[in-house]
Amino acid sequence: MSPFGEQVKTLMKEESSRKVSKLIPGVATSDGAGVRLKRYIGTYALEYLDPFLLLDEFSSDKADDYIAGFPPHPHRGMETVTYMVEGRVEHGDSLGNRGVIETGDAQWMTAGSGIIHSEMPAMENGLLRGLQLWVNLPAKDKMSTPRYRELKSKNIPSVAIDGGTVKVLAGEFRSTAGGFSEIAGNPMYLDVSLSPGSRFHAVIASSHNAFAFVLSGSGHFGSNRSPVAESALAIFERSSASHVSIHAQQSGVRFILVSGAPLDEPVARGGPFVMNTEREIAEAWREYRDGTFIKEKPTVI
Ligand code: FE2
Repeated sequence: MSPFGEQVKTLMKEESSRKVSKLIPGVATSDGAGVRLKRYIGTYALEYLDPFLLLDEFSSDKADDYIAGFPPHPHRGMETVTYMVEGRVEHGDSLGNRGVIETGDAQWMTAGSGIIHSEMPAMENGLLRGLQLWVNLPAKDKMSTPRYRELKSKNIPSVAIDGGTVKVLAGEFRSTAGGFSEIAGNPMYLDVSLSPGSRFHAVIASSHNAFAFVLSGSGHFGSNRSPVAESALAIFERSSASHVSIHAQQSGVRFILVSGAPLDEPVARGGPFVMNTEREIAEAWREYRDGTFIKEKPTVI
């Protein structure tokens, strides 16, 4: 095909890819013992994007913004996915897991029937930046056995593409399976870095909800004319299109691309618990107060 033919083919692919339906600015808030962060999913602007319940970015080089951390607290009925962009966080949980995750590492924690964990900065100065995503569990798995998994940066599968690199945390990209597997709803979680002017296409299941969060630089997402820049969340419309296209601007762009199958089930939230009914939330709080919350092992924190 002539270079012109290639160009037409690329433009047609971009025109037929999913469009960005919403751009969500983060809402400044604080959580844990006083960690300043920005919330992108889980606010009045976007209550949730089924099955994704919450997306937080913590990013600061001021120790006062993060040093208080997240002391021991419970979760039930959902999963938390933490991806460290920069810095070090020490974690511990009621299953007995202990350790430090640092730049490029990721953890996928399935709270299931109940887990108590802590996430504390393992640094006193410098930039701490990361993302935490909450993924809902289907009703049948809400009271499943809790599970903790961790991937060191060097063990996250990486795929070289024209003009970039794709790290595959979950799901599949060009026949490379993600480091985290056997997850309810088969979510995809990619970390994509593109050099200036590069183009990227990824297949997304047409039934999935999908979003991209820009970590640095800027790019055109879908066929949208306006570029999306750092720390912005782009929601892709639900459509029959089975792929998304991104075109890096002159700055290049790094973003995470996430998709997942909607559960279409009732969502009842109560702080760190996400169940199907208010009654189940009340039950979780009662068990937490009574000390009967942890089903698997005595709390070791
Ligand atoms: Fe937590």
